[in-house]
Amino acid sequence: MIWRSVAELRQAVAAWHRDGLRVALVPTMGALHEGHLALVRRGFALADRVIASVFVNPTQFGPTEDFSAYPRREAEDSAMLAEVGAHGLYMPTADEMYPAGFSTTITVGGVSEGLCGAARPGHFAGVATVVAKLLLQARPDVALFGQKDYQQLQVIRRMVRDLDLGVQIEGVPTVREADGLAMSSRNAYLTPSERAIAPGLYRTLTAMAGRLSAGAAADEQEAWGREQLQSSGFSAVDYLELRDADSLQRLDRLDRPGRLLVAARLGRARLIDNVAVVTK
Ligand code: PAJ
Repeated sequence: MIWRSVAELRQAVAAWHRDGLRVALVPTMGALHEGHLALVRRGFALADRVIASVFVNPTQFGPTEDFSAYPRREAEDSAMLAEVGAHGLYMPTADEMYPAGFSTTITVGGVSEGLCGAARPGHFAGVATVVAKLLLQARPDVALFGQKDYQQLQVIRRMVRDLDLGVQIEGVPTVREADGLAMSSRNAYLTPSERAIAPGLYRTLTAMAGRLSAGAAADEQEAWGREQLQSSGFSAVDYLELRDADSLQRLDRLDRPGRLLVAARLGRARLIDNVAVVTK
């Protein structure tokens, strides 16, 4: 079932709710891969009906970013969702999401600042606004997001708490290729030689996480990691930082559960990844 309008979506979800069924929503921008499907599969464990949305949200892309180049594969996406057993697909038009005169933006402070928030001004306001709209349009009981976009997950958790949106937010572990590279629609931008370098991102994070867990200083490890990435062929490291796993405040040394987050450029792609850093 494909819905293009808020009215059709609302009608379907309301009918399920009248039958006492729990509904899960998986928001995406399409070009689906196993990472997205893992969210749908996890949804089946938490709800009776699982729906996905596909909307390439213009407001979360910066003026020099890849909005027009972002892959659009409606037919394949809808076939993959049917195959995995999703109960519906919401594919709103840009006019349905942002009708003429649209003037509201949700800005989440704190967790939006730094990391991708610094490298991509306005990005998280675009994400927060579209996710709030999707949650209010569908009114699911639970919505699922990947830990792959860890800062995004924390921004959404904060917004849902602050605005009393009344939906459970579920974070799902990152799905990786066999060599450790986190699955991403943007991996398609890599040339074969860049693709061979890309798994170094996760290898560097896991090596650093082990030493940070054992008590190493964050600045010393961050310098080592940057050097490692640059010498292996990444052209720039936007950030590589140890942060508090919940508040995303910077940590100098691990004294509570941490998250190590990275964004680095490889050819045309900007890759992000992160791992948990656990206290011993
Ligand atoms: P998109 O990049 O399409 O990702 C949709 C969801 O899939 C996000 O929650 C993301 O974290 C998750 N995801 C992507 N790759 C993953 C992987 N390898 N393992 C686990 N989960 C993965 O993130 C967005 O779209 C947008 O910002 C959106 C939330 C839809 C708002 O427009």
